[in-house]
Order: sequence, then C-alpha cells, then structure tokens
Amino acid sequence: MNIESLKGRSLLTWLDFSAEEIRLLLDLAKQLKLEKQGGKIYQRWVGKTLALLFEKRSTRTRCSFETSFGEEGGHPVFLSMQDIQLGGKETIEDTARVLGRMFSAIEFRGFKQSTVETLAKYSGVPVFNGLTDDYHPTQALCDIMTLEEFCCKGGETCKGKKLVYSGDGRNNVANSLMVISAKLGAHFTVISPSELAPDSKIVDTCTRLAAESGASITVTSDLNAAEGADALYTDVWTSMGEEAKHDERVRLLKPYQVNSSLMAKTGKSDTIFLHCLPAVRGEEVTAEIIDGPASHVFDQAENRKYTIKAIMLAMI
Ligand code: CP
Ligand code: NVA
Repeated sequence: MNIESLKGRSLLTWLDFSAEEIRLLLDLAKQLKLEKQGGKIYQRWVGKTLALLFEKRSTRTRCSFETSFGEEGGHPVFLSMQDIQLGGKETIEDTARVLGRMFSAIEFRGFKQSTVETLAKYSGVPVFNGLTDDYHPTQALCDIMTLEEFCCKGGETCKGKKLVYSGDGRNNVANSLMVISAKLGAHFTVISPSELAPDSKIVDTCTRLAAESGASITVTSDLNAAEGADALYTDVWTSMGEEAKHDERVRLLKPYQVNSSLMAKTGKSDTIFLHCLPAVRGEEVTAEIIDGPASHVFDQAENRKYTIKAIMLAMI
C-alpha cells in the first residue's frame, strides 16, 4: 500500500481507516515537517480550491487548513455560517452538490457528525472533519505525531505507549484519541467521573479494535490509573456549544484537573503533557503544568499544520 491509495478519500472519523493508512499519513506529516524545517517550498495545489465551512470558532484548525493550502498555490475560501445557507435556507445536500462543482475539497467544523457525512456523500469531493460534537480526527493525528516526537526513540512508534486522558471523557477529542489509539496499538486510558464517561458504544468498538492491534482501552474514575503514563492529556471541561453546562462541569470535573498531584501519580519523571488547545488555566489544567517543562502543547499546535497538510496532500 502507498499514499496514492488514499486519493479521493474523505476523513470523517479514523474508524474508516486502517492502521497502515494512518501510519502512511503520520510518515507523510513527519516528512512535511522536515521539508518545512529545510526551507523547501512547493506549489502542489496550484489550480485547486478548498471550501472551509465553520459553524464553530477555530484558531488552529482554520489556520492550518487555510495557510498550508494557500502557501502551496491553492485557493482556500473561508465560509462562516453568516456567509452561506448550509442547512438554513438550503439543504445540506444541495450545498454539498454545489460546493462539489466548485471546490477540489471541503473542510467542515460544526455540531453534527451527520452534517459532515452528508457533505461527503453528496459533494463528490474529499471532505475533512475539522471537528464535530462527536469527533476531532485531524487533532488526534497531530496528537499521535507529537507523542511519537517526544515519547519515542529510534524506530519506536506509539504502539505500546500509554496515553492517559483525564477530564470530559465523552467529548470529541477523547473519542478520536480512543479510536486512533485502538487502531495504532497505543494503550488508552480515560479517567473521568461516571457521568462523563465515554459512550459505551464507542468503548465497545474501540475495545474490539484494540484486541486486534495489541492496544488496551481503560475507562475509570480512579486517578491512580495515571500510573505509567507516557503522556497525560486533557481538554476543556465545556466544549463549544455546551456553555450552559459550565457550572455542572466544574463541579463534576474538579477532581480530574491535570495538576502536579496528578502528574506525580504517573510515577515517571518524563511524562509529557498534551492539550489540544484552547485551554482554560485553572480549570482542566493548572498554569504550572501547561506552562511548565513537561508541556508540549505548542509543539502539538504546530504539528496540526503538518498533519492537516498530510491529510490534504494524500486525499485531494
Ligand atoms: N485544537 C483545535 O482544534 O483548535 P481550534 O479550535 O483553535 O481550531
Ligand atoms: N472539545 C473541544 C475541542 C476544541 C478544539 C470543543 O469541542 O470545544
């Protein structure tokens, strides 16, 4: 198998990809980072266009898609919900059909997973999920790239490494991390209160996948499960669209904050800290940790660009 076999595909969730395909994308992302560091400039998207649909806000995802596509001669067009009719005056199906006639590919960030699925079904061009309520696949690829950069030596990969996520265990970021870990053979632990534990359907699916890849999936409310973590990960307690639940989340998630006491529970001195960003210091993570020596959150943010570029290069 080579990267050419991914041409024309859409990325809606990593459930649709094999471990081998995900590894091809990781290798390409690493190569693109080296290219960038070597000052190499290419024009691989001349004559191509990319529609960027955003129902929710974004800094990293938008900028990664828009700058990497534009830098290589492509024409990205940002379309917020103030600009287009998506699902309002026009059905999602019709918008998809129209965009598919004008663009080489579409990125969508928003609420429903079904919207990104509909765009992929009716547009006839590759569609990339830039975050929905259910999944954040482009983030998870970057997270594995960053984990491999800082936790693996020589030819090691994430296979057999332990990634621990503490916090809102049923959000898009946790779901995508669980899927990609299960596919690639990394041990994934979610520590969360039972009220915010991952959906049992996705846990069952990932547990089955993990059995094939040699990974393990652990869901618990016990903070001691952080023991042996190569990377400790958290995300905001209230995701976009859930702002009304803020007070309840603070009450439920306070014990699951990533702080020096949770870092100490890893029992390791070289555990790294990861966060997809944006972060709320004092809620899901203390300033001491996110701004401290174990934190690689800005390396992680930078890697969004290489991983997103790899996804687009392979699939467009
Ligand atoms: N991590 C992430 O998706 O960041 P943005 O919301 O800024 O795109
Ligand atoms: N879970 C967060 C991720 C932001 C990148 C949200 O959906 O708001």
